[in-house]
Amino acid sequence: MSSPSIAAAAAEVLPQAARRRTFAVISHPDAGKSTLTEALALHARVIGSAGAVHGKAGRRGTVSDWMDMEKARGISITSAALQFEYRDAVVNLLDTPGHADFSEDTYRVLTAVDAAVMLIDAAKGLEAQTMKLFAVCRHRGIPVITVVNKWDRPGKDALELMDEVSERTGLVPTPLTWPVGIAGDFRGVLDRRDGSYHRFTRTAGGATIAPEEVLTAAAAEAREGVDWTRAVEEGELLDATEADHDQERFLAGETTPVIFASAVSNFGVGALLDVLVDLAPPPSGRPDADGAVRKLDDPFSAFVFKVQSGMDAAHRDRLAYIRICSGVFERGMVVTHATTGRPFATKYAQHVFGRERESVDVAYPGDVVGLVNANALSVGDTLYVDAKVQFPPLTTFAPEYFAVMRGKDTAKFKQFRRGIGQLDSEGVAQVLRSDRRGDQAPVLAVVGPMQFEVAQHRMESEFGAPVELDRLSYTIAVRTDAASAPAVAAARGVEVLEREDGELLALFMDKWDLRSLQQRSPELTLEPLVAAQL
Ligand code: G4P
Repeated sequence: MSSPSIAAAAAEVLPQAARRRTFAVISHPDAGKSTLTEALALHARVIGSAGAVHGKAGRRGTVSDWMDMEKARGISITSAALQFEYRDAVVNLLDTPGHADFSEDTYRVLTAVDAAVMLIDAAKGLEAQTMKLFAVCRHRGIPVITVVNKWDRPGKDALELMDEVSERTGLVPTPLTWPVGIAGDFRGVLDRRDGSYHRFTRTAGGATIAPEEVLTAAAAEAREGVDWTRAVEEGELLDATEADHDQERFLAGETTPVIFASAVSNFGVGALLDVLVDLAPPPSGRPDADGAVRKLDDPFSAFVFKVQSGMDAAHRDRLAYIRICSGVFERGMVVTHATTGRPFATKYAQHVFGRERESVDVAYPGDVVGLVNANALSVGDTLYVDAKVQFPPLTTFAPEYFAVMRGKDTAKFKQFRRGIGQLDSEGVAQVLRSDRRGDQAPVLAVVGPMQFEVAQHRMESEFGAPVELDRLSYTIAVRTDAASAPAVAAARGVEVLEREDGELLALFMDKWDLRSLQQRSPELTLEPLVAAQL
């Protein structure tokens, strides 16, 4: 029997889900993701406390705290969600850890969002990490909004950037705004939807929301002269090339709306929020492992997309981040853990952003909740109430770093084995084995080298099994099968290992070795894993 408050909240599920916009930013380090996040937080705060103007000190609050904590802990504590209201929507921005802590978690965040914002540095265009993350978005078919950032600095030509987006991602760019003034001479943007001119104004250090002056085309021409005429002409060129926004094609992952911005000056941030609210999709029902859809207003269900253990052994707070798929979440409710069939009490549920941990009382589909003391939960696990559901396992991604892990103390083999099993189930690293290497020296495969440090630290501090790691020089893993494995393993510089899920992976030093074997023996099964090199 559901409690009366749950019944009341259940009536709210569909309208509340429809208000949610859950997204992540995909970008390469330095493109301006933190700056943009900060600008979004600023927008949210100012809107939340009408008319309040925050100086630089206030503005620094949320996001830099978050970073301090990362530094103090030595790993990213992020992948938390920033939640705020904008217009009548509730926006959930999930963090995608980048830099050195780029890891499988970064990819997994993308399994928990309904849309992505692809943030590009105007001078650099599409960079490696952006492309890797984009591959996951494409695999999931989630809609992507493109933001060309740093237009206040010298950079590439706008049309050239559109060509690059279209050639490298296969998405048709449909610019909603078009820059007036070349990169480095940002005058403002032409709004292609109504032909108006939004003039770019700077505020001191971008600490407040940039006031946007909106002018008519005639006023824009009088003010900006040739820069305006050029923007209009380029806009006409775009009109001729199917570059207009088409909601259906956007939602199908075929086109990408584009806006031009300067996150550091807060210009384009409001426009991005409007695009998210107006165009990005709200949560929808999620298919379960059998392909049946768990509808938004079905009883509560969620899946774990990230598990995080405190690096501090004294505070073993293990947080599991869940994305709600259906129904209402109420703090304190007892849910069923699908893997074990056991009950799990959600007494401690939090929104975590930076140091501010706020208790969550009620949450709806699209929201992210951090569950504390979640020792029983692993990445990919399903939680539900009433009607049983099991969501499909989360995809694992193509690792690029490999190392052999050995216990330093052979007497601790039991602890070693238990630790390895746990790290594997949490997705800290993929564990690969072969007869040749034996049980005592499995290979750890990760997408970012930081994961090795986390694994090593946890083996010692949490499982009491000190280990050493020997890095291997492989950089690529592809899928092979039992029939091809002997021939693949016989090639020079190649090794075949088995992953926990039974998948056979062939490791290569580099893509040339892989290509040459593919050319010599086209009959062998050598398939890329998800998010493999593009
Ligand atoms: P990231 O999280 O994607 O790694 O990037 P981050 O926001 O840290 O931004 C990287 C650098 O780019 C920062 O400069 C930031 O100020 C700058 N930046 C971000 N957006 C814009 C923009 O729209 N225009 C310009 N001109 N710069 C931008 P930094 O020198 O590394 O740091 P700081 O000293 O400015 O804080």
